[in-house]
Amino acid sequence: MAILEHITSQQAIDLENNYGAHNYHPLPVVLCKGEGVFVWDVEGKRYYDFLSAYSAVNQGHCHPKIINALVQQAQTLTLTSRAFYNNVLGSYEKFACAFFGFDKLLPMNTGAEAVETALKLCRKWAYEVKGIDENEAEILVCDNNFHGRTTTIISFSNDPVARKNFGPFTKGFIKIEYDNLEDLETALQNNPNIAGFLVEPIQGEAGVYVPTEGYLAKAKVLCEQYNVLFIADEVQTGIARTGKLLAVDHENVKPDILVLGKALSGGVYPVSAVLANNAIMNVMKPGNHGSTFGGNPVAAAVGIAALEVVRDEQLAENAEALGNLFRIELNNYISTSNIVKLTRGKGLLNAIVINDTETSKTAWNICLALRDNGLLAKPTHGNIIRFAPPLVMTKAQLLDCVQIIIKTLKQFER
Ligand SMILES: Cc1ncc(COP(=O)(O)O)c(C=O)c1O
Repeated sequence: MAILEHITSQQAIDLENNYGAHNYHPLPVVLCKGEGVFVWDVEGKRYYDFLSAYSAVNQGHCHPKIINALVQQAQTLTLTSRAFYNNVLGSYEKFACAFFGFDKLLPMNTGAEAVETALKLCRKWAYEVKGIDENEAEILVCDNNFHGRTTTIISFSNDPVARKNFGPFTKGFIKIEYDNLEDLETALQNNPNIAGFLVEPIQGEAGVYVPTEGYLAKAKVLCEQYNVLFIADEVQTGIARTGKLLAVDHENVKPDILVLGKALSGGVYPVSAVLANNAIMNVMKPGNHGSTFGGNPVAAAVGIAALEVVRDEQLAENAEALGNLFRIELNNYISTSNIVKLTRGKGLLNAIVINDTETSKTAWNICLALRDNGLLAKPTHGNIIRFAPPLVMTKAQLLDCVQIIIKTLKQFER
């Protein structure tokens, strides 16, 4: 352990810069401890975490119940691969299926893997159930989507930084405008080979874009009309983040395929999953898909504990109440602000739009100042900052954070 002791922030940053690939641009702060809504840097300064590892740490840092499940299982059995059964996976699958209302679950590790799984499942269903000719299936996706970083997923991204020099790309995806039902219907009408519609109920990475009320419900009806699978990517929006268990619950939509990740483990372990009913999931046969670590006993034990925390601590209800309060408080400030244009979001997934260009450095500079004032957040674009604290936050803590945010924004008023 000696190698990990007594490191300063600068030493840690230098090590990452020298020995790590530069595929991220982190805010300069080096964290060494987390508890609930707080994280600490190596010099001992405490911060409110207002990112929650991109909505993975919904249950708060190092939640004792989840950590206890992790430690107990890690001391008993960690990995068998799916070559053998283990004594935890089935119980987790049963629990999660009942929790989200589906027949079956396919376990994976990361969000991107779960999205890949959903795409494969959708294609296989299209050939074997819907009857589309082999290799002809197409999946509708939305402009400005974010579903991860694999080669297939970036094939239908329109982020030039994520795509440039990573081609050739995977075929079989058609982009339509997000939050545009006419675009969806036109795409469905003109093409009998559409197998599915992959959508984020709120576009998180794009800048927390909340679609028009009714969009998701009407999109689901259109999908049913054309026998097309509605695939909800709830990797970021799911598991209480937006004030309901799932963001689609705001419109009472039941997806055909549900994609989950991040908070499925409360941020302590990579756990992701795809859920669907038998009519869809049963197309998957031995050898079609898998992962050495997917469904391992630690992941399964952690997954049960993480969902129990969401249920027992009523995190969706807390996110709903605190999210409303947060937007009211910020809107009060914004009405007199020159630096912030607006705030938007649902539950505790929110963003503010800074009154500056997309390529400006203002959002980054505000995040540096927020850090200095004891709160960590990260821009999603040059002029958008996402605010997504752990859902175990109290009202008093939230109001404290609002004060820090307003105090910081005032430093940037012109
Ligand atoms: C909506 C959505 N889907 C998929 C992913 C990919 O998840 P992961 O980074 O675990 O691969 C993310 C990550 O931010 C996401 O926000």
